[in-house]
Amino acid sequence: MMKDSNFNLRYLMASALLVVSGVSFSISAQAGDASAGEAKAAMCGGCHGADGNSADGSFPRLAGQYGSYIVKQLKDFQFGHRINNDTMTGMAAMVASDEDAKDIGAFYQSQKIAGNPLVKPNQKLVAQGAEFFVKGNPKSGVYGCVNCHGDKGMGRENAAAFPVIGGQHRDYLVKQLREFRDGARANDPAGMMGAVAKNLTDGEIDALAEYLAAQM
Ligand code: HEC
Ligand code: HEC
Repeated sequence: MMKDSNFNLRYLMASALLVVSGVSFSISAQAGDASAGEAKAAMCGGCHGADGNSADGSFPRLAGQYGSYIVKQLKDFQFGHRINNDTMTGMAAMVASDEDAKDIGAFYQSQKIAGNPLVKPNQKLVAQGAEFFVKGNPKSGVYGCVNCHGDKGMGRENAAAFPVIGGQHRDYLVKQLREFRDGARANDPAGMMGAVAKNLTDGEIDALAEYLAAQM
């Protein structure tokens, strides 16, 4: 049983990487310009922080995130593939071109994630989350997050399809994981996150988010 679900996830990972690299090939003929992006991101800073380190747990940190992941999310909001936040749908509509999106993505990627959790971490939950992050839950068939998101959720080299989630705000992480689970967010390539999240309990989500928010 477990062998099969691991096989499926590996297959999904491989096919999603192909899909995603195909997309980024067509939209990123040239890399974004971080200094042009800084000016273009001025309208984003009110919520996400001038350097991409927002001070409110409902606005995700964008500092240190892969530029191409940021571009993908902006397009997903624009095209209605990601429909879990009306405010952000409105903001994404103001990013006028692929070039602007790439420049903004390059700017945030060049910033450093602050890594200070907004809420004091609950160490018991952090320890539970750390173990779950690596091992997953063989009983419910959840694959370890580390396989896709890298050590401490800091991403993997040459795999920008898998966003940086270490150092992200706890409340934002909880919201995303619940939404992947119940289908309110379904813009993940090949349904990879939905397949993972559908077997997560509320307690597991809380522990994972507490652990990830405490990483830097
Ligand atoms: C009024 C507040 C607000 C402003 C201004 C704003 N955003 Fe957002 N943004 C949000 C919220 C809230 C979310 C989280 C949506 C959710 O809950 O899933 C978000 C999410 C995002 C995400 C997804 C991040 C991830 O990790 O998946 C990206 C990328 C993003 N915003 C980029 C931008 C850019 C670029 C701008 C400027 C053009 C901008 N935002 C302006 C509120 C804002
Ligand atoms: C098979 C690969 C895979 C596994 C395993 C996986 N993820 Fe993901 N995850 C992804 C992909 C791909 C995305 C990007 C979705 C998109 O493009 O919008 C993602 C996105 C996310 C996001 C949204 C990030 C953001 O900035 O909005 C969170 C949170 C997340 N994953 C947490 C986890 C956790 C926690 C686990 C372990 C329980 C996990 N993931 C396991 C592939 C995976």
